[in-house]
Amino acid sequence: MKLTWYGHSCMGMEVAGLQLLFDPFISGNPMAKSIKVEEVPATHVLLTHGHGDHVADAEAILKRTGAMLVGNAEICGWYEAKGIKRTTPMNIGGETDLGDCRVRLTIAQHSSTMPDGASGGDPGGFVIFTPEGNFHHAGDTGLMLDMQLLKRYKLNYACLPIGDNYTMGYNDAVEAARYMGVTTVVGMHYNTFPAVTINVEKAKDAFRAAEIRLVLPMIGETIEL
Ligand code: NI
Ligand code: MN
Repeated sequence: MKLTWYGHSCMGMEVAGLQLLFDPFISGNPMAKSIKVEEVPATHVLLTHGHGDHVADAEAILKRTGAMLVGNAEICGWYEAKGIKRTTPMNIGGETDLGDCRVRLTIAQHSSTMPDGASGGDPGGFVIFTPEGNFHHAGDTGLMLDMQLLKRYKLNYACLPIGDNYTMGYNDAVEAARYMGVTTVVGMHYNTFPAVTINVEKAKDAFRAAEIRLVLPMIGETIEL
């Protein structure tokens, strides 16, 4: 499958004929000036939680593309009130089909408030089961033992926050990868703004020492995973 990196926790996965877009935060991201939001493709927009740095461009992209919104029931309800009709409301532990793929909503240790202060329900992450392998997008989270449960999904890779402060940092992300049994991690939620700025070389060293591959695509770059 192909991963296109849009910065922060936003990425698009092209798999099984679908364009899965996670946590669109592009127009407000100073690092993503080169990305044209109006050209980002999506058949599905998946939102891990309600924070602005994960949902800021969701409404515009949903309205332009007619993509299906996938998220918890509170987030879907918030967008339904804005006129978004195609939604897949879920809650923690549930799975549903997305074309030839399947999605499971998992827990995250974080918070989830919508940009207007409304409840965004519980924060989450997604496991995506595809004909080309399975992967996890963790959303924003701290390290937690429940990550060990993800090992049974035989994940090809996991997208994990590494920026610290609002989420786990890279050392905890190494541990999270061990818990999940993944050997490839796509690092996210780092170097977007000062509070999540890290020393990337030290992050690479931490993953190298654990013999886990850390993938850090450039903004706009598409890689095969
Ligand atoms: Ni957050
Ligand atoms: Mn965040």
